[in-house]
Amino acid sequence: MKILHCDYLIIGSGLAGLSAAHYLAPHGKVLVVTKREKNDCNTNFAQGGISCVTLAEDTFEKHIADTLDAGAGLCDENAVRAIVEDGPARMDDLRAMGLEFDTRPDGTPDLGREGGHTMRRILHAGDITGRHIEQTLIEATASHPNITILEHTHAIDLVTVRENGKTTCIGAYLLGTKTGEIFSAQSACTILATGGAGKVYLYTCNPDVATAGGLAMAWRAGAEIRNMEFFQFHPTCLYHPEAKNFLISEAVRGEGAELCDADGVPFMHRYDRRGSLAPRDIVARAIDHEMKTRGLPCMYLDIRHKGVGFLTRRFPNIYRECLRFGIDMAKDLIPIVPAAHYCCGGVKTTVEGCTNIDGLFAIGEVASTGLHGANRLASNSLLEAIVCAHKCAEWITSHPRKDPHNMPPIPAWVYGDAVPSDELVVVNHNWDEVRTCMWDYVGIVRTNKRLERALHRIENLRHEIRQYYFDYSVTSELLELRNIADAAYLIIQCAMQRKESRGLHYTLDYPERSSEPKDTVISGYTRP
Ligand code: SIN
Repeated sequence: MKILHCDYLIIGSGLAGLSAAHYLAPHGKVLVVTKREKNDCNTNFAQGGISCVTLAEDTFEKHIADTLDAGAGLCDENAVRAIVEDGPARMDDLRAMGLEFDTRPDGTPDLGREGGHTMRRILHAGDITGRHIEQTLIEATASHPNITILEHTHAIDLVTVRENGKTTCIGAYLLGTKTGEIFSAQSACTILATGGAGKVYLYTCNPDVATAGGLAMAWRAGAEIRNMEFFQFHPTCLYHPEAKNFLISEAVRGEGAELCDADGVPFMHRYDRRGSLAPRDIVARAIDHEMKTRGLPCMYLDIRHKGVGFLTRRFPNIYRECLRFGIDMAKDLIPIVPAAHYCCGGVKTTVEGCTNIDGLFAIGEVASTGLHGANRLASNSLLEAIVCAHKCAEWITSHPRKDPHNMPPIPAWVYGDAVPSDELVVVNHNWDEVRTCMWDYVGIVRTNKRLERALHRIENLRHEIRQYYFDYSVTSELLELRNIADAAYLIIQCAMQRKESRGLHYTLDYPERSSEPKDTVISGYTRP
């Protein structure tokens, strides 16, 4: 088996992964592996922008207070402070790499506003901020002699050894998805930057790659997992049979759009004094309630009053996309539904990305640093991705690690009796079953009964997938299926352990919030 050696192995090529590569490259050889093309990542689809204290009248304290308020009593205040306060310096790094945030005619930053923020605080580049960031990082890392990026390389599992009573990660098994070759990368530092898990749910605004790979691999390797019950549903995904995963950014509500019914009658003021700009858990639940009680397939957004000039200037991409589906934002209500958007839980880490496994780090959406608590404040995720990538690189380079050549070698991959599958229908069927089950039973509103039903089904599926995994040759589709099933199991387990409603976890059986905020932590892999 081919073994690649590097100083730093990074799995994932979104903002967290590529910025970690950028910060680590001056210190050693960086290998980035990514399962499709470099820009196939959640970052590339982020619309709103990055929240960062910028204006003189804004303060770190205000941003921290908004984050804690959205997080419903479960944020780690030290983590929030560390990340918020590092924001301005990291935005300067992005500018130095060539990223241009939008400015007003007088040259001051043009800041957007989103739900839960008490003031304008979102730096943005048009309404495709993520695409600009991703492109900037791809350009910044492309020509660095110390950075190698392997596309179409799917991480299968982490490799760990037990040394002196502790677990150490020494690299990962990898699948070349174009060649079918299984090989490995050995490193004293493996950094998971694999992004989110939206594909666990039937309806999501995440791209196809968001299949919880890093989370599932970390759990299988023995990492602690925290707060997976807090899955954020974005309130406003475009509802149209041909629009796959298209988001109507919260920035649209920040500019005055109101949530309303088909007659244009607003309803959010009945749920929260902040109306359409309340935090996302409240808005998504309100939309879900309106749809279910009225028996409707969607609700609407109304921003007609802003006029075509403003809309095409501020939201050129959203305006164009809506028009493609026959919706003119300046004349029509926009049909919307909530969809799975962001995984607030993840691999339990410090703000530097350290996990409970030596040599294993996690940054970005795959990590749970304590920033998001029970509900993420809009546009805090890109901020967390770059700040924690920087902190992780600083931590790693100030804590020298073993030379990868002097580590125990990675054992060769065991093919066993696996043969190419002649029943791909099983993979497709199980994909749909996991996602439908999660949408129906572990969605915006939960109950004990629904969770029990979901657990039963997911356990059966995990069992079947495990058998399939051993019997047939590994493919990208099979790896993703195994990972979303493991992530589904973790979400259900965490949801079952939380006997209260808080932030994004709402259950009819325990509708009140407990007076004692507590994290849910799962340690120890449960084999199907
Ligand atoms: C949006 O543009 O609405 C998404 C922003 C975010 O999820 O942080």
